[in-house]
Amino acid sequence: PFKQRLLVVANRLPVSAVRKGDASWQLEVTVGGLVSALLGITDFEAKWIGWAGVTVRDEIGRKSLTEALAEKRCVPVFLDENLVNLYYNGYCNNILWPLFHYLGLPQEDSLATIWSFQSQFEAYKKANQLFADVVKEHYQDGDIVWCHDYHLMFLPKCLKEQNENIKVGWFLHTPFPSSEIYRTMPSRSELLIAVLAADVVGFHTYDYARHFVSACTRILGLEGTPEGVEDQGRLTRVAAFPIGIDSDRFVKAIELPQVKNHIKEFQERFDGRKVMLGVDRLDMIKGIPQKLLAFEKFLEDNPNWQDKVVFVQIAVPTRTDVLEYQKLTCQVHEIVGRINGRFGTLTTVPIHHLDRSFDYHALCALYAITDVALITSLRDGMNLVSYEFVACQASKKGALILSEFAGAAQSLGAGAILVNPWNVTEVAFAIAYALNMPSEEREKRHHHNYVHVTTHTSQEWAETFISELNDMVVEAQLRT
Ligand code: UDP
Ligand code: G6P
Repeated sequence: PFKQRLLVVANRLPVSAVRKGDASWQLEVTVGGLVSALLGITDFEAKWIGWAGVTVRDEIGRKSLTEALAEKRCVPVFLDENLVNLYYNGYCNNILWPLFHYLGLPQEDSLATIWSFQSQFEAYKKANQLFADVVKEHYQDGDIVWCHDYHLMFLPKCLKEQNENIKVGWFLHTPFPSSEIYRTMPSRSELLIAVLAADVVGFHTYDYARHFVSACTRILGLEGTPEGVEDQGRLTRVAAFPIGIDSDRFVKAIELPQVKNHIKEFQERFDGRKVMLGVDRLDMIKGIPQKLLAFEKFLEDNPNWQDKVVFVQIAVPTRTDVLEYQKLTCQVHEIVGRINGRFGTLTTVPIHHLDRSFDYHALCALYAITDVALITSLRDGMNLVSYEFVACQASKKGALILSEFAGAAQSLGAGAILVNPWNVTEVAFAIAYALNMPSEEREKRHHHNYVHVTTHTSQEWAETFISELNDMVVEAQLRT
């Protein structure tokens, strides 16, 4: 059957490369919601263009890595170290990421900030142009080019400058903040104008889309319509496309022998105790310190639970060259140490905190044996961990405590216990409530979420976005 050709462009490839020799490479699966969701898409003839997470200076290295990645239908964009530092560590993860999650702009010595802001912004534009150059080499007439996330806000503009007939979509995997926050951004207009070059601009929720449209009307003075944003007769479609997961893959994984082995192992390990689980990249937006303090408060208020519950927190190291992330790691370790010192016994500790990632099978097993999942993001585009947990709970039907500031709160709100992660007392109370929840209520809540997660999949998300993009292009042609 005919499959539409699709070029997926994202800063991250689904695999990161580790060099093993002059021309030999080890490819490791990368962690993050964007990669997880896009891997669930199979109904397109897709090629993935992105950064492989390493600097490669020599020709032998570049050629051999390109060949190794080609087997995974991936194409590398090579970025040198200085550029990665200014574009990825700097502009993307020290400026855009915190701002889009309501954590504000970095506050350093003001003159230094202005200087470094400019150079980081220049690097950002340069990096986006490099991505566009690689797209150009692989583009064929009729291809759809789908750009992803805050790293590539300039890409739609670069692509349309190359060829105005390219069908370009852009999707943001993070929140788009209120225009009151967004307008503090020094390069606010240029970024919006660059994104508007796309034919379709997509967000996880209706709120994020609305924030984007009002930023365009307030900052650029453009007209916002129910369809999107209009500029001199040209319409950029703006809409919400809530992402999902490949739920089938998780539901089926639970039956695999290697997952069953893990399940057995974990059940024996945690026998006699209820298991609470957190799975996050070690990121400020995940509210890990707040979550730990809430768990501490819960232990304090409920001495009868102290030896009957264990909290497993997987904290995957991420963006470790950025200072704020280094500080967070220290802070989290300090809190975990204090709580374990306070409530541990000679043989057990209440918190198992792990600075590492887990492979897919172990992760599914962990999801499956968990009694209560605890997700306390201070802001989160969607949060796919909550979806994956639900998909793996067909037999256990455990409770989900979910931050009201995660996009997922809008889809799993009726089944989850929603909390304000800043309110430690409220979260501590929710933990007690979840652990004591009668099975009837648990099953009802789980059912609600399970239906949602298994009917709103990543495949469907991609199909909806792409068909919207195809329709838009046809409509635009009719208008001219
Ligand atoms: N994940 C993983 N290995 C781990 C921990 C997490 O592959 O050890 C994956 C997890 O399955 C999920 C993704 O990382 O698909 C995290 O996505 P989410 O949307 O929750 O948050 P993000 O990291 O994108 O902010
Ligand atoms: C979030 C972002 C993704 C990013 C992922 C992991 O999900 O939306 O674009 O890939 O985090 O972060 P990293 O910086 O390692 O790519």
